[in-house]
Amino acid sequence: MPQFSPDVQALETELIALRRDLHQHPELAFRESRTAGQAAAFLEGHGFRIRTGVGGTGVIADVSGAPGRTVLLRADMDGLPIQEANDTPYASQEKGRMHACGHDGHVAMAAVAGRVLASRRPAGTIRMLFQPAEEGEAGAQTMIAEGAMDGVDVALGVHLWNELPVGTLGVKAGPLMASVDRLRIVIHGRGGHGAKPHRSADPIVAAAYVVTALQTIVSREVAPVHAAVVTIASIHAGEAFNVIPDEVVLTGTIRTFDPALRRSMPERVTRLATGVAAGLQCRAEVEVRPGNPAVLNDADVAALARRAAIRVVGEAQVVEPEPTMGGEDMACYFEKAPGCFVFVGSSNAARGLDQPHHSPRFDFDEAALLIGAEFLVAAATEALA
Ligand code: NI
Repeated sequence: MPQFSPDVQALETELIALRRDLHQHPELAFRESRTAGQAAAFLEGHGFRIRTGVGGTGVIADVSGAPGRTVLLRADMDGLPIQEANDTPYASQEKGRMHACGHDGHVAMAAVAGRVLASRRPAGTIRMLFQPAEEGEAGAQTMIAEGAMDGVDVALGVHLWNELPVGTLGVKAGPLMASVDRLRIVIHGRGGHGAKPHRSADPIVAAAYVVTALQTIVSREVAPVHAAVVTIASIHAGEAFNVIPDEVVLTGTIRTFDPALRRSMPERVTRLATGVAAGLQCRAEVEVRPGNPAVLNDADVAALARRAAIRVVGEAQVVEPEPTMGGEDMACYFEKAPGCFVFVGSSNAARGLDQPHHSPRFDFDEAALLIGAEFLVAAATEALA
């Protein structure tokens, strides 16, 4: 059984109430003004210096004891453009918007942890950070651009995680989540009549070969013991059944854990796409737009997070999660200070609470919330010591 501090346990009712309130009113990226207001209101009057409107809708709240280190606790606030399919009493009241990733829980856990830490007032500074737009919209960068990481020594964050059962905490040193880069390839050919292909340079045939050739990056160029993904996720070309179009547009994503491997990918994609297209009398234009770096948990911070996790749920319930090729902008904070991102097990198959994140039926076992809050308190305390 998890071990809870009395001051954390005392806030359980408020914790669940806050999560359910946020769940009913999800807000999309950079529009999280109500959510931010609820988070700030929860900390108001507990000794925090609170800045709102940071990076749009973000909140930064600092509380300091005796001089010491500064530890950042980060929560993301945004919901998703999904129509909720659950009919719980706390289901989303906003049409087409849903907390389908657990960010409602992240805000609630962080708010509770912040209030507990403020009342204990350990030496050092606790910086609570509620960020907008984790879901692919660069919320972390906007917070960092406004000074969110200035003076921060250690950054900590958690994600409710339905891949792990409630009662567990997933702590892993090193790569946890992948870098996410966007890929766009335009293949220029020369359109013409579908019956006279010899008078065209067919970009559709070239695109088909390019898609096939790109599969050899992972299978033939990347060392088998390293992980990488090159996915082409959309192909757009043509209007009519008998007209060869002028061009094809492909989009996709490139994912890696290793920064050096990541840096090598644009050259590999460009070489294959332009080379294959040129051989077929077409011309490929390749654009790789960098997104989040990989989430790389610092070894020392992961070790202290693991100690904190063991104190909360016991050693047998602290697991090393499988890394995932999904991305997270928590990675951006780790470029400025060492940190650790921890998964809070939240699924309960027996209660049907085991749907994947981003599903319209996503929900989690709320017992995970108190565990997550206790863990944040324990890990922050450990990081300040
Ligand atoms: Ni998420």
